[in-house]
Amino acid sequence: MRTVYLDHAATTPIAPEVREVVAQAMEECWGNPSSLHLFGRKARDLLDEARVTIAHALGCLDAEVLFTSGGTESDNMAIFGAARVAPPHRRHVVTTAIEHHAVLHACQRLQQEGWDVTYLPVDRYGMVDPDDVRRALREDTWLVSVMHANNEIGTLQPVREIAALCRERGVWFHCDAVQTFGLLDVKVDELGVDMLSVSAHKLYGPKGVGALYLRGGVKIAPLLVGGAQEREMRAGTENIPAIAGFAKAVELSQSRYASASRQVWQLRERLRVRLQEWIPDLQVNGHPQQCHPGILSVTFEGVSAESLLIALDRRGIAASAGAACSAGSIEPSHVLLALGMSEEQAMSTIRLSLGRGNTPEEIGFAAEVIAEEVNRLRSRSVKNLPVAGSE
Ligand SMILES: Cc1ncc(COP(=O)(O)O)c(C=O)c1O
Repeated sequence: MRTVYLDHAATTPIAPEVREVVAQAMEECWGNPSSLHLFGRKARDLLDEARVTIAHALGCLDAEVLFTSGGTESDNMAIFGAARVAPPHRRHVVTTAIEHHAVLHACQRLQQEGWDVTYLPVDRYGMVDPDDVRRALREDTWLVSVMHANNEIGTLQPVREIAALCRERGVWFHCDAVQTFGLLDVKVDELGVDMLSVSAHKLYGPKGVGALYLRGGVKIAPLLVGGAQEREMRAGTENIPAIAGFAKAVELSQSRYASASRQVWQLRERLRVRLQEWIPDLQVNGHPQQCHPGILSVTFEGVSAESLLIALDRRGIAASAGAACSAGSIEPSHVLLALGMSEEQAMSTIRLSLGRGNTPEEIGFAAEVIAEEVNRLRSRSVKNLPVAGSE
């Protein structure tokens, strides 16, 4: 059966070059990078090289890159790490209602510990207003965390403006750039961030590895304690093959990102236009221009996203819902509700996320299948309507 992968925001397939580097590192660099002997030094060299590659991509010093187990740990480390060093009179955090749960749940944990958290609203496109950030900043604000691109609707936030406001007020600023690193140019100085989270598996690298950029001079507390790895900021023997694979993925994306993101955007536009032609009442979510090139969130009124995704899966198309499955029940996504959608609309929304491996033919095929399945599900639900006078 023909398959089309349209779930790159969830994870990306590993690039063949990355797979090779990981395999080679497993075979040749299995030493412990903290060991002083030959085997350790070989692993240390690879670790150092990887750090330089990632620092170069982020436009920072290699000493400002800390390897972690991925985006979740980087987000948790930034938030809990910053909170643990806050003076007692500055226990206020500002974030947005549409952050990833790795940020939101960390903030909720802080609230349980007595912190005050402001969750900023977004407009109907999912954009935060920097004036809202300005108004939310208080004498006791210690940290602001706003994501670069939202993972469900793709909207890009005005990170530069927000970072500048924080800088003016002497407040630390963290940005979750998990969805954009590797596809857009993410330079920490241009953005003006103090901390920034990235993850390898969103850019054709291995899962379970990521990094936190920590600006020199910003001293946070480690999440994991034990050994002195990562400048005593993240204890535990480093996962050298995954880190080497991460660096290779970054290197590949750096050489390709401008053309790759243009190509992905063109495919996304082709898909959007086709779907809008065939399904005229389709609603496209997120900002029309300020948006991640590969993410297309669409609402098909009256169609259950769950039924649609099952139908698409049967026909070889992999996409995902704007909903989180928890304890057996599907909850409407907090992101879609924050845009002002009803629960019903949120439960009729799917996310199609494209990547550099998708082709125009795949997109044409996917658009056709999606339109067919939406129409089929709609006609089925019309057939199931009670006939007037039958009750
Ligand atoms: C915006 C955002 N932040 C954080 C994460 C978590 O990253 P990881 O899966 O590497 O823990 C994700 C993953 O979906 C994400 O999209």
